[in-house]
Amino acid sequence: MRGIITIPIFLYVFTFTTAASKSSLILNRGDSINVGKESQFLTSPDAAFTFGFYSLGTNACWLAIWFTNSADKTVVWTANRNRPVNRKGSKATLLRDGALVLTDVDGAVAWQTNTTSFDVTAAHLLNTGNLVLQNQKGDILWQSFDSPMDTLLPSQPFTKNSRLTSVASQANFATGIFNLYFGSDNVLRLISDSPDTSTSYWPNPNLRMYENGRTNYNSSRIAVLDDLGRFLSSDLLHFNSSDVGPGILRRLTMDYDGNLRIYSLNASTGSWSVTWQALSQPCDVMGVCGRNAFCVYAPLLPKCTCPPGYVVEDDTNWNTGCKPAFNITLLQSTQVNFLEIPHADFYGFDLNSTAALTLETCRRMCLEDLRCVAFNYRLVGEGMCYIKSAMLNGYAVPDFPASIYIKLPDTLAPSKPKIFHASGQRCGSDEREELLGSSSMYDFNGRRVKWVYMYSFAAALGAIELMFILLGWWFLFRKHGIPASVEAGYNMISSQFRQYTYSELKKATKNFTEELGRGGSGAVYKGVLSDDRVVAVKKLGDVFQAQEEYFAEISTIGKINHMNLVRIWGFCSERRHRLLVYEYLDNLSLDRHVFGSSFLSWKQRYAVALGTAKGLAYLHHECLEWVIHCDVKPENILLDSDFQPKIADFGLAKLLQREGDGSEFTRIRGTKGYMAPEWALSLPITSKVDVFGYGVVVLEMVRGVRLCNWGEEEGDGGGAVSSFVRRWRGEVEGVVDGRLEGRFGRRQAAALIQVGVACVVEDRNKRPTMATVVQSLMACEYEED
Ligand SMILES: *[C@@H]1O[C@H](CO)[C@@H](O)[C@H](O)[C@H]1NC(C)=O
Ligand SMILES: *[C@@H]1O[C@H](CO)[C@@H](O)[C@H](O)[C@H]1NC(C)=O
Ligand SMILES: *[C@@H]1O[C@H](CO)[C@@H](O)[C@H](O)[C@H]1NC(C)=O
Ligand SMILES: *[C@@H]1O[C@H](CO)[C@@H](O)[C@H](O)[C@H]1NC(C)=O
Ligand SMILES: *[C@@H]1O[C@H](CO)[C@@H](O)[C@H](O)[C@H]1NC(C)=O
Ligand SMILES: *[C@@H]1O[C@H](CO)[C@@H](O)[C@H](O)[C@H]1NC(C)=O
Repeated sequence: MRGIITIPIFLYVFTFTTAASKSSLILNRGDSINVGKESQFLTSPDAAFTFGFYSLGTNACWLAIWFTNSADKTVVWTANRNRPVNRKGSKATLLRDGALVLTDVDGAVAWQTNTTSFDVTAAHLLNTGNLVLQNQKGDILWQSFDSPMDTLLPSQPFTKNSRLTSVASQANFATGIFNLYFGSDNVLRLISDSPDTSTSYWPNPNLRMYENGRTNYNSSRIAVLDDLGRFLSSDLLHFNSSDVGPGILRRLTMDYDGNLRIYSLNASTGSWSVTWQALSQPCDVMGVCGRNAFCVYAPLLPKCTCPPGYVVEDDTNWNTGCKPAFNITLLQSTQVNFLEIPHADFYGFDLNSTAALTLETCRRMCLEDLRCVAFNYRLVGEGMCYIKSAMLNGYAVPDFPASIYIKLPDTLAPSKPKIFHASGQRCGSDEREELLGSSSMYDFNGRRVKWVYMYSFAAALGAIELMFILLGWWFLFRKHGIPASVEAGYNMISSQFRQYTYSELKKATKNFTEELGRGGSGAVYKGVLSDDRVVAVKKLGDVFQAQEEYFAEISTIGKINHMNLVRIWGFCSERRHRLLVYEYLDNLSLDRHVFGSSFLSWKQRYAVALGTAKGLAYLHHECLEWVIHCDVKPENILLDSDFQPKIADFGLAKLLQREGDGSEFTRIRGTKGYMAPEWALSLPITSKVDVFGYGVVVLEMVRGVRLCNWGEEEGDGGGAVSSFVRRWRGEVEGVVDGRLEGRFGRRQAAALIQVGVACVVEDRNKRPTMATVVQSLMACEYEED
């Protein structure tokens, strides 16, 4: 018989304010763990995990396993997730008959293991975080690893019977609607299971299985996250956490917002950082906003909102969605009207999808079918008409190429609503209108937009910043709703943004002697400020803009901050002088490292392609003001000392467009060779012009040759890109820069060329968005075969 080893515990400030807490390594037959005064814990031999009662509030608790050293004591498993027990008088006992039983204060059994008939002698918590019941011989008769909650730990097998289920919300730990499990087709999937519907949203349902890199053919249905942070699944899903390597505590968690993430623990701060996530776009999570609701990126982060005529059902839980603010039977009458919501869709639930229809025919089909509540009409090639029986999985994103039309009683006499004015936008303009008719927006957790998201425990600015970088997201500028720590960081940064005098900059640049480059918008000079900071000073050509407008524009640009965008430190505006002060980047612009004698390695090129895509995606999708760059080319992609890309000159199109009749705007509207065809066709300019420019840059980077020189090579002047695209048959060898002598990743190269080709197609509606580009490049980020 082994005795109880007792060591004192000092750490559990969060749980019980008791004088005597006891921690042991073994729970023997007949022993109990009590809640309350004599609070006791079981710890793993390396002390990484603790098993015991976990407080959920003033009077409830779980029997749970948690990370001992994470700042928030992150729970990885609970016995009684949906049935918390009383904080006084509950206990867990390893009964003499072999069952581990949790009893509430009144003696009622809240949970028990099924091990009565077995010869259980003791319970141990292993270093892996697995609670096991063992017999004398050490055989495992029951283990917590067999019944995961929302978290999978390294080495914990995920099998055909396993399922990770999210909690309902950040504040509500009951079972939520998002799940990870192997589907009957052998593919590991993320599925939202609400009372209404079950929708699989990962892997991407719009792609075929092999396009997602998965297979249906292996029925073993087994997956595991190993100790190094590598995930391997029998359906060929392989991915690595970004910090792959030994000695780091990690967890794979099905989060309440429907995303699946790997978190890594920083042992010194106890905070978690995201080192992998399944979906880069939160609105790709189906069902995150519930029935009749839309997921929108407005103004910055994903939020749920109701369409006009609908109100939120329960603003503490968005999974319940929106309910009609009118008598629903009115929709069955003939007195109905349709309300157009552009760039929006409800995914699935099509009563009928038909091609080659006019908008009017589509409208009539929905009108005549009493089951139809909305229809989606898109004019891509021929008209496509989708008649909806339910409004579920709604999302509105600026570049979605279609409108949803919802049926409403005509008594509501809807005026035309506006969500996002993505099309018809002039280059660089920042119209970004919010949904009319919805009085309020809520985050996924139901709180009135308050920016906390799910990282309330990550207090240190550094940790938060790291998360931003990992998520490829935003930095926030709005005062309200920003965690104090972030705001402090922002103030710190913004205080460095200031106005300079002309003489100051003249001195810094030694009277504008060292010219770094010259473009449509002006010349750039190297300078050293009085505080020894090395800067690049851009002298804008003659600007006729009024001071006031100039200030407004500049302060907007000054607030834009992303690791892949060149930081702006300040500006000068005196008489006719307009100057901008940027951070100086050691390695200057990309063109010098692709077309010249010095050239980037494959790894660097891939990183540049991905980083540039992230910077553009940020400008197009997450940025406070919606910015189109309008002049994406290698000269505008700068490289820092680690050859990480930073995009320069964003926001300038906007700055320069308002002069006079717009002729200046035309002057800087792009650079030959990188300009999308729609410029020539005088179509409205959308963010797809940047996608085009990006595609050209990517293809040039892969080939290591300037576009105009391909023309020479291929003997056909201007249409070098289109002729390449026409001729490309999927081959990689022979396309990639010969100077690399074959030292490049084949899959990465194929991915880059595919992305480049897709970005330069003539029909802009068929070009991907930058967000999609980021997603597809991230999928191959670690594949350097
Ligand atoms: C657990 O208990 C249930 C019902 O009490 C029984 O059907 C099942 O076979 C038991 N499982 C094991 C592993 O003993
Ligand atoms: C199926 O997957 C398992 C686990 O990844 C692997 O060991 C096995 O070889 C695979 N079977 C086939 C037929 O590919
Ligand atoms: C942990 O956090 C500290 C403080 O923020 C930081 O200095 C350190 O680099 C982090 N460690 C890892 C492994 O990220
Ligand atoms: C809705 O309208 C129908 C028919 O007009 C009526 O019978 C029903 O009572 C109304 N329901 C409510 C809740 O007002
Ligand atoms: C969809 O509607 C078209 C036109 O009314 C009809 O021909 C077709 O059969 C319908 N398809 C389905 C699946 O109902
Ligand atoms: C994960 O990392 C290992 C090296 O630790 C590497 O062999 C493997 O290819 C990587 N997998 C992915 C999907 O990046």
